[in-house]
Amino acid sequence: MRTLTKIDALLTEVQHGLDTLLHQFAGTAASPGQSRINAELTPSEIRTSQGCMRVNHTGEVCAQALYRGQALATQDPHLKAHLQQAADEEVNHLLWCKERLSELDTHPSYLNPLWYALSMLIGYAAAKKNDSLSLGFVEETEKQVLSHLQNHQHVLPQEDHKSRAIISVMQTDEARHAEQAHALGAAELSGLMKGLMKLQSRIMTRTAYFI
Ligand SMILES: [Fe+2]
Ligand SMILES: [Fe+2]
Repeated sequence: MRTLTKIDALLTEVQHGLDTLLHQFAGTAASPGQSRINAELTPSEIRTSQGCMRVNHTGEVCAQALYRGQALATQDPHLKAHLQQAADEEVNHLLWCKERLSELDTHPSYLNPLWYALSMLIGYAAAKKNDSLSLGFVEETEKQVLSHLQNHQHVLPQEDHKSRAIISVMQTDEARHAEQAHALGAAELSGLMKGLMKLQSRIMTRTAYFI
C-alpha cells in the first residue's frame, strides 16, 4: 500500500473543508429539533432565531477546522485518532444547525470559508507547538461555545422549541468535549491567549449573526 504524503494529507484537508462548507456528510443522529413542534414565530422572533442559529452553525464550522488542523499537526497517533473522531462527532451539530437554518429560511454565514481557514491555521499552529497547548485550545474553545449556547437559551424566542432542543443537546456534548480535552492533559492557556480567543469569537459571533 502507498504511504500517504504531505500532499495527500493536504488534499484530504481541502476536501474536508469543502465537505464542511457544503455539508457533504451523512449524520449519525437525527436533529433533536425534529421531534419538537414547529410553533408560529413573529417576523422579529424569526430574525432572532436566524441570527442565533447562524452563529451556532459558524461555531460548528470552526470546530471542524480546529479539530482537523490539530489532527493534521500532531505527531501522536492516539491523539490524532481522538481529534478526528471528535470532528466526526461535531458533524451532527453542523448538520442540525444547517437543517434549522433551512427551516428558518435563511443561509449560513457568507464568511464561513474565512473562519474555516483561520480556525484550521490556529489549530495547526497550536498542535505544532505541543499537544497539551493544542488540547488547551480545545478546552477553552468548548467552554466559550458553552457560554454562547447558554446565552442563546436566554435570547432565543420562548416558542422556538426546535432551536432550543438542538442547543440543549449541543450544550451536553460540548461540556463533554471540554472535559475530555482536560482529562487528556490540556494546558491552562495564558490570560492573553484566552483574551485573544474571546476577541476572535466576539468578531465571529457579531458578524455571523447578520451575514
Ligand atoms: Fe459542536
Ligand atoms: Fe464540541
